[in-house]
Amino acid sequence: MSSSPFDPDDSADTGGMRKGLTSYGDQGFSLFLRKAFIKGAGFTDAALDRPVIGIANTGSAYNPCHGNAPQLIDAVKRGVMLAGGLPMEFPTISIHESFAAPTSMYLRNLMSMDTEEMIRAQPMDAVVLIGGCDKTVPAQLMGAASAGLPAIQLITGSMLTGSHRGERVGACTDCRRYWARFRAEEIDAAETAEVNNELVASVGTCSVMGTASTMACLAEAMGMTVPGGASPPAVTADRIRIAEQTGAQAVQIARDRLTIDKVLTPAAFENAMRVLLAIGGSTNGIVHLAAIAGRMGLDIDLATLDRMGRETPVLLDLKPSGQHYMEDFHAAGGMATLLRELKPLLRLDALTVTGRMLGEEIERAGPGFKQDVVRSIAKPIYPQGGIAVLRGNLAPGGAIIKQSAADAQLMEHEGRAVVFENLEDLARRIDSDDLDVTRDDILVLKNIGPKGAPGMPEAGYMPIPRKLARAGVKDIVRISDGRMSGTAFGTIVLHVTPESAVGGPLAHVRSGDRIRLSVANRELSLLVPDEELARRARECPITEPTAERGYRKLFLQSVTQADQGADFDFLRAPKKAGS
Ligand code: FES
Repeated sequence: MSSSPFDPDDSADTGGMRKGLTSYGDQGFSLFLRKAFIKGAGFTDAALDRPVIGIANTGSAYNPCHGNAPQLIDAVKRGVMLAGGLPMEFPTISIHESFAAPTSMYLRNLMSMDTEEMIRAQPMDAVVLIGGCDKTVPAQLMGAASAGLPAIQLITGSMLTGSHRGERVGACTDCRRYWARFRAEEIDAAETAEVNNELVASVGTCSVMGTASTMACLAEAMGMTVPGGASPPAVTADRIRIAEQTGAQAVQIARDRLTIDKVLTPAAFENAMRVLLAIGGSTNGIVHLAAIAGRMGLDIDLATLDRMGRETPVLLDLKPSGQHYMEDFHAAGGMATLLRELKPLLRLDALTVTGRMLGEEIERAGPGFKQDVVRSIAKPIYPQGGIAVLRGNLAPGGAIIKQSAADAQLMEHEGRAVVFENLEDLARRIDSDDLDVTRDDILVLKNIGPKGAPGMPEAGYMPIPRKLARAGVKDIVRISDGRMSGTAFGTIVLHVTPESAVGGPLAHVRSGDRIRLSVANRELSLLVPDEELARRARECPITEPTAERGYRKLFLQSVTQADQGADFDFLRAPKKAGS
């Protein structure tokens, strides 16, 4: 009997349109039906016989950071077709920082589930992940890691900088700076409205080393993008060319069956941690790396990160730790310039989506040139890595501080706690003239951890109390179990673990207690005797938050602590032996 084009087994290649047939109890019929439907869109058999490349489209009117998605998709499709594949675009959830309530982090795991299940459910041999805004790249890498197919990340790219009264400005470090000036009554409402027009000068992601830029750099450091994929701004020809190359490379990884587990190895995560430290990257990068690693059955060990931090200087002179913007980093050669400088500290044997090792890619990028955005190891902008890990009786599971963006004078500090029980309490009292606070105190905010708010919002960057701001105070020690935006700066202790909502020691801090912060000793201590803390815990037992239904119920039941990436416990992979 002659072979049938609808026999799902009668092919040397069971990929492409033959993959993952819908369950009708008759596989031949499933393929027959699938082909009939797709032919309704005008496809020929010749097209349908090609390797299928899924393209996760995260364009959304609510996401200006992905405003170039249509142009990127055109270019990816061109690259796929030039390389002999069939591009198939599909939508997933898209998340923007300013358009997601209560916080984008609450939805990251949902986006990762959407991405994973759509990659699994639909026939594709490889997938191009188009992401950019803070939570999208980690969500896509988490989902793709769990789905296990060949995958390649395409970053949307950073926005252009704007200009306000002769000063260069960009989101969102300058957003915070101008807002702080408005609160301190240094500028009026009219100027605030004026600068509001200039802070985001085009579509694309935030133009400083915030979480989006951090995750773009980490994705390239982990070998998940084509070389040079992190830095081109969103609206440039370079970005479009990267998209075309990404499409073509996606066909190659499909043919080579270069599955994501071959790229996201322990060596890749080690390189990501090095780069995170060397770029003065967002503290959120740690949470996201822990979540992505968890999907591969790996852990991000905070002690290792801290040890690496002591020997990895900050080389990248970008806001908020330095002076420049992402477009300057791109003009300075982008990640190739950074990786070349960091080479002695990297695992050069880590495989990338090109099928070559990271060390080979650094060699292929050629020699560098004179520039002033990436410093040499001999002349760093900060002698240690951007992030330090703190421990002590206030954070038995660890806490972190972005030391490169903190006030050097406050990093060794003992002070009196001024406690806010939750976000509502903070909003109600922070600007009150009656607030009992001085510049030497330590602001403590509870209940903004993974379960507390919920979703671990970026509220760890508490505003300076208005009466102190008016008196010219620019920084004060702040401690919470929440996160802060990668674009923020200050002496801010974050991710206190375990969080207060599950009964961590933070829950039992009271105004007037004394707290000691020593970044040099990596210490965060509540100077209250253990017996007193135990008494408070007995007097005021903690009830963990719950919900009646829906995603919130799933979230509160399943979200892990910051050191596990605040992923859902049931999405983590079984731990890999020896990890
Ligand atoms: Fe999207 Fe900053 S809001 S990257």
